Amino acid sequence: MEKIIRPATKEDIPQIVELMKSEPGFWPDDGRKDVLERAIDSEDCLAFLWEENEQVIAFASAYDVGFLAYLSTLIVAVPARNKGIGKKLIQHIENESKSRGCNTLMSDVWKNAVGFYKSLGWSEPDVVLLRKKLIKD
Ligand SMILES: CC(C)(COP(=O)(O)OP(=O)(O)OC[C@H]1O[C@@H](n2cnc3c(N)ncnc32)[C@H](O)[C@@H]1OP(=O)(O)O)[C@@H](O)C(=O)NCCC(=O)NCCS
Repeated sequence: MEKIIRPATKEDIPQIVELMKSEPGFWPDDGRKDVLERAIDSEDCLAFLWEENEQVIAFASAYDVGFLAYLSTLIVAVPARNKGIGKKLIQHIENESKSRGCNTLMSDVWKNAVGFYKSLGWSEPDVVLLRKKLIKD
């Protein structure tokens, strides 16, 4: 079976959307519809997928915002979880971010995924994440 990590392309978008929609609450139905097109088009976005036999099994994206990179998405298909795929994809994004000159990779993470990140050496930063909602719920 061929397993590879490769950059995501526009042709992959339908499979990535399907993957993101398979996880309850992951795909923002009220968000902008072209979020993946924008990511894949952007030179500052690192968008990679894990492919097995031409099937998208996992997807991760991060934005290079200068001195740090911001991980915006990570998802592994349910049947492929706990096989080390999320770990390898994140390590790939970490290496790519570092080689571009980013000294930190940051993310707001789902509470039930905190243990996953900590097992990969992630820690809580000395800052507090705040938000301002720009549209009403
Ligand atoms: C979180 C997620 C990406 C993990 O991917 P995965 O491929 O199943 O994880 P891996 O198999 O690479 O696990 C790597 C390590 O993390 C551990 N781990 C995995 N999920 C974990 C969890 N939820 N809590 C604690 N540890 C976890 C594994 O045991 C493994 O540890 P090891 O290296 O000591 O064996 C995947 O479960 C997922 O897509 N979840 C739904 C979406 C999500 O939560 N995304 C992150 C949003 S911020």
